[in-house]
Amino acid sequence: MTTLIINIHQLFNTREVTILLRGVALAQIPSIENAFLLIEDGVIVNYGHMYELELKIPQLPKHVIDAKGQTVMPSWCDSHTHIVFAKTRESEFLDKIKGMSYADIAANGGGILNSVAELNSATEDELFNSAWQRLEDMSKLGTGAIEIKSGYGLTVESELKMLRVIKKLKERSSLSIKSTFLGAHTYPIIFKEDHQGYIDSIINDMLPVIAREKLADYIDVFCETGFFSPQEMETVCKAGLSYGLKPKLHVNQLHSIGGIQSAINLNALSVDHLEIMKDIDIKLLSKSNTIATLLPTAAFFLRMLYQPARQLIDAGCAIALATDYNPGSSPSGNMNFVIALSCIQMKMLPEEAINAATINGAYAMEVQDELGSITIGKKANLIFTKAIPSLAYMPYSFGSNLIEKVMINGMFI
Ligand code: NIG
Ligand code: FE
Repeated sequence: MTTLIINIHQLFNTREVTILLRGVALAQIPSIENAFLLIEDGVIVNYGHMYELELKIPQLPKHVIDAKGQTVMPSWCDSHTHIVFAKTRESEFLDKIKGMSYADIAANGGGILNSVAELNSATEDELFNSAWQRLEDMSKLGTGAIEIKSGYGLTVESELKMLRVIKKLKERSSLSIKSTFLGAHTYPIIFKEDHQGYIDSIINDMLPVIAREKLADYIDVFCETGFFSPQEMETVCKAGLSYGLKPKLHVNQLHSIGGIQSAINLNALSVDHLEIMKDIDIKLLSKSNTIATLLPTAAFFLRMLYQPARQLIDAGCAIALATDYNPGSSPSGNMNFVIALSCIQMKMLPEEAINAATINGAYAMEVQDELGSITIGKKANLIFTKAIPSLAYMPYSFGSNLIEKVMINGMFI
């Protein structure tokens, strides 16, 4: 089917070719005022100024949409989530209100282990249905591509159960989905005193099956004091790499313990969280190809320091933004709020935040050839906004829903 969209008030993030954005380039969003966009079988095939329409599209297709007043932009690329989980964790939310920290809750057997216990007793269908609902809700908020992690299983059976749910989501959803194996999220209770035993199980029992059944695109480790050390992360990632799984890693959420250096040595695609960064971490990252994925809603929800976005950007690091949607530290999949927080609390410019949430987010899950910008040949995964006076109005009017319609593969959802 061919669809022509005309009279687009502003068409944002039009790029003939794309590169991973850093520095001043991150603050530029190429756009066309009063634009048209042509879609064929779900793919962008042409775009331009309305005054070029006759020249570029001499024969108008039957299906024409008038987007008068609307702004159109690429959908959000949310490159870090944990949306497969069995139960929400409001009781820990209350504990935090009453003064407990995220680390205290984890040390008392809550946190990730709470979700692990719940997931173990949930069926694959229950997990699929609740994750499907979250995906639907997120797509209505403008998300068109998403990465989803395992990590609430921590046994061979349950990690495979999670990854099979993600595989089914990939097969049935029209969103673009990448899958990450996070067996090294924490140590399960039976391996509390035997870290090497659990690492051996990840390497010898889980990874071969995951590779055989093609259940994951990436490997992740929670590198943190009380969780996995940088050395343990390296061991797990090297095993993952031997099966072709590139690392996308949780580092520097609570402490700076050398995770950044190890991640760069492993040529990680991304390092995610980064609440606690030393100058040396920022310097190392700025000289690497590893993407810094910031998760401000996790800092917001846990009342922690926000990621030092300005220092990272000014040092030349490539930045992506993601929701970290999970039941413990960020129970929200709203990329619009992530963008607003990034501008309000981390002093990112609206253009920087939107690039980090679209094209750089696409790079952080290697879908940059099909998503993340208005580029000929890319998927028509698009956000149609209500009438907005400027791009800055989106983060400025935080909390209001400015999305009128969302298109996935050329079809309105
Ligand atoms: O990215 N910090 C590690 N993992 C998740 C939280 C997991 C949980 O609390 O359930 C995160 O914040
Ligand atoms: Fe996470």
